[in-house]
Amino acid sequence: MRLSDCHNIDDFRLLAKQRLPWPVFDYIDGAADDERTKGRNTAAYADCDLIPDVLAGVEEIDTSMTILGRKSALPLILSPTALQRVFHWQGERAVARAAEKFGLWFGISSLATVSIEEVGAMVSTPKMFQFYYHKDRGLNRSMIERCQAAKFDAVALTVDTIVSGKRERCARSGFTSPPRFTPSSALSYALKPRWALDYVFREKFALPNLDTHVREGTGEAVSIAGYFNTMLDQSLDWKMAEQLREDWGGTFCLKGVMSVADAKRAVAIGADAIMISNHGGRQLDGSRAPFDQLREIVDTVGGQIEIICDGGVRRGTHVLKALAAGANCASGGRLYLYALAAAGQAGVERAIGLLKDEIERGMKLMGVKSVAELNRDRLRWR
Ligand code: FNR
Ligand code: LAC
Repeated sequence: MRLSDCHNIDDFRLLAKQRLPWPVFDYIDGAADDERTKGRNTAAYADCDLIPDVLAGVEEIDTSMTILGRKSALPLILSPTALQRVFHWQGERAVARAAEKFGLWFGISSLATVSIEEVGAMVSTPKMFQFYYHKDRGLNRSMIERCQAAKFDAVALTVDTIVSGKRERCARSGFTSPPRFTPSSALSYALKPRWALDYVFREKFALPNLDTHVREGTGEAVSIAGYFNTMLDQSLDWKMAEQLREDWGGTFCLKGVMSVADAKRAVAIGADAIMISNHGGRQLDGSRAPFDQLREIVDTVGGQIEIICDGGVRRGTHVLKALAAGANCASGGRLYLYALAAAGQAGVERAIGLLKDEIERGMKLMGVKSVAELNRDRLRWR
């Protein structure tokens, strides 16, 4: 299979599976417990149908919108994801350049493998820093100060990872940050020579936004579950989140809000946006899908705070359905990660290009000239 054979996100998943050592592929593809929430995140979009208008004269359409105070060419954000140089040696650099090419927001994780400073200087497209609230207060302060100095456009505090989800695929494979070649997994790495040569001979693995304060994850191999459960502050509460917003002083988003009550609390502490998200099913398995939960949150706080529907998006029509249901924007991780793993920047650009075409085609076939025209009249739940 080659890059030119990839015509949708699932094709990229197959190519990534072909090119990655299975512990690395399973880290991306895997989720928590029985992985039911991961499956539902995408399946939820199949439970409603689009109602097109016709003869609307759609030669010229506008897919752009403003989210988190910045213009975006599409109603789609590339969600922050960790360890990207483990998936492909170009890592976050590839995603940043692809996001810039298409005029999209993208996010880097606290566990990014490229520094806040480099990403901040590299591209002008809007960028968010995903913040994990650590026990180490000095590290928390350092990350915020570095984002301020690097002029990041937003901070997204992830709030659905107070402890790690049960990542059974990673438990089986022994996947760690940095990857450890154990007797059971060494063969899987050796069988993917292109990946292995890149990983061994190119830039050394690092978590440059964390290794100023902690060894875990960079100098000391640790599972993601182990990192979450030992390094993150389980006392994190709304007061601390509000203080972080004040310390940051810029556009602030809560990533991982799912309940209406929490959406109201997010408004109360002055957050600019919420990402309705279950972390791609990687945290609380059995959690409702963001698309299923979207309407009741929109009906309660719509217009008071921006609402981003995160997770399960694999098609342009999924983005259109999320907007019609009331989201300001959609976002996703695997929708570009499989492509990154499969083919680096060229892969991510192809994947975003395919989604852009699907969004444009979908709008034209629906008789919609701007994303603002998408509303619930365009949807019917089965
Ligand atoms: C993630 N996600 C994530 N979220 C976050 O807040 N910080 C992080 O470091 C990561 N890392 C990460 C790694 C990998 C491999 C995946 C797949 C996901 C979650 C991500 O931001 C997003 O919420 C989900 O990916 C959305 O689900 P989809 O789009 O992957 O179905
Ligand atoms: C994950 C963490 C890093 O989902 O957010 O793997």
